[in-house]
Amino acid sequence: MLVLAAALAAVHFGAPALYLLYLRAAPKKPLQTAAIYPKVAVVVPTYNEARNIEAKLEDVYSQSYPRDRMSIYVVDSASTDGTAEAAERWAAGRRDVRVVVLREPKRRGKAHALNTALAHLADEEVVVITDADSRWLDRDTLRRAVAYLAAADAVSCLKRPAGGGPTEEAYRTWYNRLRLAESLVHSTPVFHGELAAFRREAIAGGFPEDVGADDSYAAIRIAAAGGRAVTPPDVWCIEAVPQRGYPTWRLRRAQHLIQAFARALPNVAKAPPPYRVILAAEAYLHLFNPWLLPAAAALAAASGPPGLALLAAGAAALLYKPYRAWAAGQIYLMAAALRNIWNKE
Ligand code: GDD
Ligand code: MN
Repeated sequence: MLVLAAALAAVHFGAPALYLLYLRAAPKKPLQTAAIYPKVAVVVPTYNEARNIEAKLEDVYSQSYPRDRMSIYVVDSASTDGTAEAAERWAAGRRDVRVVVLREPKRRGKAHALNTALAHLADEEVVVITDADSRWLDRDTLRRAVAYLAAADAVSCLKRPAGGGPTEEAYRTWYNRLRLAESLVHSTPVFHGELAAFRREAIAGGFPEDVGADDSYAAIRIAAAGGRAVTPPDVWCIEAVPQRGYPTWRLRRAQHLIQAFARALPNVAKAPPPYRVILAAEAYLHLFNPWLLPAAAALAAASGPPGLALLAAGAAALLYKPYRAWAAGQIYLMAAALRNIWNKE
């Protein structure tokens, strides 16, 4: 039993290590940029974002991207706090940028709102989705993101946490490193609502309305079909880490990612080879690998003193910050998989 416990633990920790080695060894496709200025639609979906919407619009407005090449679409889904009115007021005071406020009569989720926006676009060639409660790092963020679309089909950002503790920082550092490494090999399957930029034709089919991580799922679909979806080294977003309700927030994020990877599993076989490894590894790491940890712990606990000694060593390792961040991540993924059974949100 102890041998089995040790084997499960070895797979649990070995799989991500092997994956990192693969990413390091695999041939790289450099990320190329060009100073292109296609017409861009910046889409901001909103549900009760009166607190954030003006600052968000101001942030987009103050980007260095040419204003006559940019339109802002706010898609509001029947907010009850006056978000749409606030957006309209803001737009009335800014005559040098095109702003369209779309109102959905009923709230049917972010993806539904994005699809509404897609149906109302003019002749924009690029669609950039950004959450109302998010901020870009600086005023060149949009310009830099779009420059990568010269050679890629979709571009997202790396994330800098604001207000999170050391565990959140350790988690993000690794997460960013992975996203970047995957992007250099081919594509990353994890995109972010803070900034998800697409060539318009790459999302012509719209967003699925039953997958929480609409952005990641879109990126997966694009890369699996042979396109490229990347997070470059110099496109950053600030992520406001909630001070209250942190566990709920992490849980919800994990639920969304699990939905996207579960839905993406049939794409693995179709994906081009270097991306097939990435998608298969990430799907495995999100959906299956976490469960090996409690299985190994239970087997170890049941196998007497040597097993208990092994468990104690594992518990002591929690003093080490990156390991603690890893263990917390595994717990969120398992809890999220369970919660998805009755509440997909
Ligand atoms: N129009 C509309 N209708 N907008 C909505 C709705 C809706 O029903 N629900 C949420 N939104 C808007 C919010 O107002 C916000 O601007 C944005 O969609 C994201 O919603 P949050 O509630 O802030 O989502 P989150 O922070 O948990 O998750 C975000 O980040 C994830 C990871 O980057 C989302 O963007 C996810 O799609 C993303 O995967
Ligand atoms: Mn948010």
